[in-house]
Amino acid sequence: MYKAFIFYCSPAGTTRHVAEVIEKTLDNFDRQITVCELGKNKGKLAEVIREIKDSDQEICLFIGSPVYSSHALPLIMDLIGRLPAKSLAYAVPFVTWGAATSGIALAEMGTALMQQGYKLIGAARVVAVHSLMWEVENPAGKGHPDYEDDDLIKNLVSNIENNLQKPDPKLLPEQILSYQSATVTAEMKQQNLELARKFLPPRKVNRDLCNQCGVCADKCPVAALTLTPYPTYAEHCILCFNCMRWCPENAIEADLSPAHDMVQLRYEKYKESPLSKIFLPT
Ligand SMILES: Cc1cc2nc3c(=O)[nH]c(=O)nc-3n(C[C@H](O)[C@H](O)[C@H](O)COP(=O)(O)O)c2cc1C
Repeated sequence: MYKAFIFYCSPAGTTRHVAEVIEKTLDNFDRQITVCELGKNKGKLAEVIREIKDSDQEICLFIGSPVYSSHALPLIMDLIGRLPAKSLAYAVPFVTWGAATSGIALAEMGTALMQQGYKLIGAARVVAVHSLMWEVENPAGKGHPDYEDDDLIKNLVSNIENNLQKPDPKLLPEQILSYQSATVTAEMKQQNLELARKFLPPRKVNRDLCNQCGVCADKCPVAALTLTPYPTYAEHCILCFNCMRWCPENAIEADLSPAHDMVQLRYEKYKESPLSKIFLPT
């Protein structure tokens, strides 16, 4: 009997949705599950890492990240680096992406997990509407994740359940996650959130409109925003733009149209297919 752990970060809710489908499917198998959302509650994270360390059961981790600038979020990679060494531990990285490119996030997560001694037993990429495109009428990925995407995830989890019942479960070859060409991989290695910080527009707080209600701080998934007394951003802001999206007064302003064009251009350039995909050992 293995124990399941689900870790994820989800600024706009899609990765949480996938994590919930995983949780419900595992629940149908009466699996013991611990769920940990990363970003705000560092105490809970430390507790769950301790739980993994102290567990004498076989374990399987499901770790989910949105793709940001072709990579997994830095806090997801940090978590992987903190995972305790275990003798029998399996891992299932999963990403959600905004139809621009799923990048090299799964490959990097897979490699990092293996370096920590975790055996890869499945993986998934699930397409969504790009979380910077909420003002766009017909964005690529519209309507996703849909029922078919959810079914793919249920299928992934059921396959993993069956596989882990076997005395010698089949493993996912690491290279299957390196599905981008060498050229594209090299290009994506050059991209990161720090460069995106230069490209994405600055957010301006309109002090005539801001009534310091605090919705922006509540919606910040990584506790990077404080009211002093107007919104100010800490360096670890991940540029999800939730603060702007959810401000009830529209007091946080930025022109995202160049970013919209960039997402569309990348969608046309990379044309990844299929958009959502699960990876299982054969
Ligand atoms: C700063 C930033 C960078 C992003 N970079 C990419 C990217 O490189 N490729 C892509 O397809 N989507 C990208 N996205 C979109 C997200 O990966 C996608 O919307 C994801 O489903 C969001 O997950 P969440 O709803 O759990 O936050 C980016 C979003 C943001 C805010």
